[in-house]
Amino acid sequence: MWTDDLAVGIDEIDSQHKALFEQLDKLLDACVAGGEREEVVTMLCFLDQYVVAHFSAEEKLQQEYGYPGYEKHRAEHEEFMRRINRFVEEVAAAAPTRDLVLRVNQTLIDWLKFHILAVDKEMSEFLLKKMRCNPI
Ligand SMILES: [Fe+2]
Repeated sequence: MWTDDLAVGIDEIDSQHKALFEQLDKLLDACVAGGEREEVVTMLCFLDQYVVAHFSAEEKLQQEYGYPGYEKHRAEHEEFMRRINRFVEEVAAAAPTRDLVLRVNQTLIDWLKFHILAVDKEMSEFLLKKMRCNPI
């Protein structure tokens, strides 16, 4: 679940992060409720597409404003996308289990929270300063 401490102060990014957590919550609910494999795969694929679009938006801002941590940030995004793809493959091969719920929590939700609090906040501080001085 998205909480106020995850706000980075850039509306576009914050609203995308909120939508991302909503999608992750839905995915977990479906897994806990014993959702069909197809339904869970569809949700994971939707999540994957949403994440790709969100990460591109963040990376575009970083490039526009010449963020020095761009390459490192992009590498983190790629790692997250690999994680989602591994889940897609796993669920496509076998029905989701309780163990999957636990691992989605640990490897997607915890990762995302840490990424936002550490990496996205650092990026946002840089971007907000640049946006104030050089509005595009
Ligand atoms: Fe990010």
